[in-house]
Amino acid sequence: MPATDDQPPAGGATDPPLPVGTDAAPGPDASPVRAAPAGGTHRFSRRSVLAAGGLAALAGGGVATAVAPSGRDDAGDAPAVIPFHGPHQAGILTPRQQQVRLAAFDFGARTDRGRAAALLLRWTSAAERLVRGEAVPPELEPPGSRAADTGVLDGSGPARLTVTFGLGPHFFDRTGLTTARPEALAPLPSFPEDQLDSARGDGDLLVQIGSDDALVTAHVLRTFQRLAHGEAKLRWTMAGFTAADGRRNLMGQVDGTNNPDPAKALVTGPDAPAWLAGGSYVVIRRIRMLLDHWDTLPPTHREQALGRRTADGAPLTGGTEHTPVDLTATRPDGVPVIATNAHVRLAAPASNNGATMLRRGWSYHDGLRPDGTPDAGLLFLAWQPDPRTGFIPVQRRLSRGDALSRYLVHESSALFAVPAGIRPGGYVAQTLLEG
Ligand code: HEM
Repeated sequence: MPATDDQPPAGGATDPPLPVGTDAAPGPDASPVRAAPAGGTHRFSRRSVLAAGGLAALAGGGVATAVAPSGRDDAGDAPAVIPFHGPHQAGILTPRQQQVRLAAFDFGARTDRGRAAALLLRWTSAAERLVRGEAVPPELEPPGSRAADTGVLDGSGPARLTVTFGLGPHFFDRTGLTTARPEALAPLPSFPEDQLDSARGDGDLLVQIGSDDALVTAHVLRTFQRLAHGEAKLRWTMAGFTAADGRRNLMGQVDGTNNPDPAKALVTGPDAPAWLAGGSYVVIRRIRMLLDHWDTLPPTHREQALGRRTADGAPLTGGTEHTPVDLTATRPDGVPVIATNAHVRLAAPASNNGATMLRRGWSYHDGLRPDGTPDAGLLFLAWQPDPRTGFIPVQRRLSRGDALSRYLVHESSALFAVPAGIRPGGYVAQTLLEG
């Protein structure tokens, strides 16, 4: 069925492509560090790696993980301390906090399997303390570092801090584990209309830091950067936020309504490697919104580009926010109520062989660009058990004529495997690195 005149036209953005700035740090250095224990057994105990007996006792906390009951997260009465240990890393199914820092790190030239294990053990041990609002003890500082925790969190509390670690496609080459890289972790393909800045994409390691306190997220990022001294360098970092009720994005839309059962974001099944079972894959896209253009559109045009009402997020086919979208509904003249190029039609599982993903995005506003337009949009994060049957086919379809995409620019892109949850006394990706 053809679209009517008042339906948004398909096609590319009308804004010209614009240069993208960077907040990336330079590449890794090769400064010498104390070697992590090597050896044929690939057993990297806390004591041997940290050279600090008894540090395993620093680990603690319960194993329960706060789980959002639906795709719509509701911070509600969530406790200030979110358990670090459990079957899944916190920060996938747990409700989003008000602030996030995403950071990707690249290993230095000397990295090997043992040194990677030492870094992940150091980071894990620090995260266990930080999520409880505790300072990082001097024993965890990396060899050669003269810096220390200055007590920034004192008084701030963890504010629902979660720390989530991910491994990029090149992690496996850098650690001599190339054959262990899952096929699903191949670098993402490029999509039409992509305007990616490689300095702000990809990376060997991901750290997602969520908290309700911007001071906490900033300090925790600095802490991980300090603990990586001599081993890995910050490649890029991005800061985002959510609305207090978690509902709207910067385009004014109610966002996150039709998310799948969160458990569907997890890697399961007998073929999943032990280090990944219960984990996930996260696609990160920094998507700038052409807000100055979007804001001038007639409200009906904005709603038809999406397929939902702005006021309450209900489908244009009627009902309330959680009423299913009726993609078959037509007007008396036979024209589809949900435009043929509407975002919710093209992104729907029914249009993509059942593809789903848990969208857990964050708004960002990084000031103005040189041309005076807002450098603002969505840090789009999609969690799924396999990007080849989740994000990739959906983005392929959206990039071929989604009405919303006319007002969006994909500026950076990354994919990470997010290992299984961590048990007390263990560290992230331990079974991969010691297997
Ligand atoms: C800045 C970029 C984007 C914005 C502002 C945006 C906004 C929205 C909004 C407001 C909804 C309707 C409410 C909801 O169900 O959450 C929605 C639905 C959806 N979006 Fe996006 N979106 C963006 C990018 C993407 C991308 C890149 C993908 C995947 C490649 C995607 C996949 C989906 C899916 C799967 C749905 C649910 C469709 C359904 O089953 O009803 N979105 N989006």
